[in-house]
Amino acid sequence: MLKLPKASFQITQKIWMNGKLVDWNKAAIHVLAHGLHYGSAVFEGIRFYDTGKSPAIFQLAAHTKRLFYSAKAIGMKIPFSEAEVNAAILQVVKVNKVKSGYIRPLAFYDYGKMGLNPVGAPVSLAIACWPWGSYLGGKPISVKTSRFIRIHPKSLVADAKVAGHYVNSILASLDIQKSKADEALFLDYKGNLAEGPGENLFFMKKGILHTPKLGSILAGITRNSVMQIARDLKIPVKEGSYKLRDLATADEAFFSGTAAEIQPIGILDGKKIHDGKTGKVTAQILEIYMDAVAGKVPRYQKWLTKVN
Ligand SMILES: Cc1ncc(COP(=O)(O)O)c(C=O)c1O
Repeated sequence: MLKLPKASFQITQKIWMNGKLVDWNKAAIHVLAHGLHYGSAVFEGIRFYDTGKSPAIFQLAAHTKRLFYSAKAIGMKIPFSEAEVNAAILQVVKVNKVKSGYIRPLAFYDYGKMGLNPVGAPVSLAIACWPWGSYLGGKPISVKTSRFIRIHPKSLVADAKVAGHYVNSILASLDIQKSKADEALFLDYKGNLAEGPGENLFFMKKGILHTPKLGSILAGITRNSVMQIARDLKIPVKEGSYKLRDLATADEAFFSGTAAEIQPIGILDGKKIHDGKTGKVTAQILEIYMDAVAGKVPRYQKWLTKVN
């Protein structure tokens, strides 16, 4: 039994580990697990929402698919099928009786090998869930360009959600601690706009919704959902290469992400973007997104998987 220190999140009863539900404070691993030493783990961040009768998981299939894509990127074979992982995620939400919150599946190279090459190390999978409210608060935030750039796609597989990659996001987050900014913003190795430490970036300019193209960023599932919502609203969407001045002179801007949801950005590097307030299109997309995750938009119900 682990003695747990105080955490900034609320614990739940059970964690799914390698096919079994274990008590939250018994969900332990060996300190010589490969993934703990080298970041050789892959994970997902998924939200589930209260839809009235039953909680519903947002974009479950897409998240599980990306988990397997990330695993493949580091040569990892998850010892369960995608269907089994989907079922396990549903089980963990159901058993914990939480109405809305966050789900964290984590597959990692486990104890058994200490050399860097992970071939031969066993692979474990754990899935936890807990109630989790707004990540960045919802009100327009201030972002600061990081002195760290987003990971280079030729050094790492930039669109895979590998634990080790997140040291990049941790450094950027630590770096802005002393500033007044709420969140960091990465440029890529070409000096183009990339994304936040855990969010994709959008901005509106002259009636077009722009977002940095794939290459150096995570292919966000919320990003895809936002682009679909915008297209359904007949708002032209462009994926491109942009510089900081494009964002500085935008009419409105926001981050998207599972944790952050739709997060308006009011300030870039100490200066207001337009009037610094939540823009009209941002507000519209935010409202539709929050309705969609709550099961209130018939055309987007296909994005939800009911838990009961
Ligand atoms: C680096 C990074 N970019 C973007 C996102 C947003 O992705 P998603 O919308 O799939 O949560 C995340 C969150 O997973 C992330 O970690």
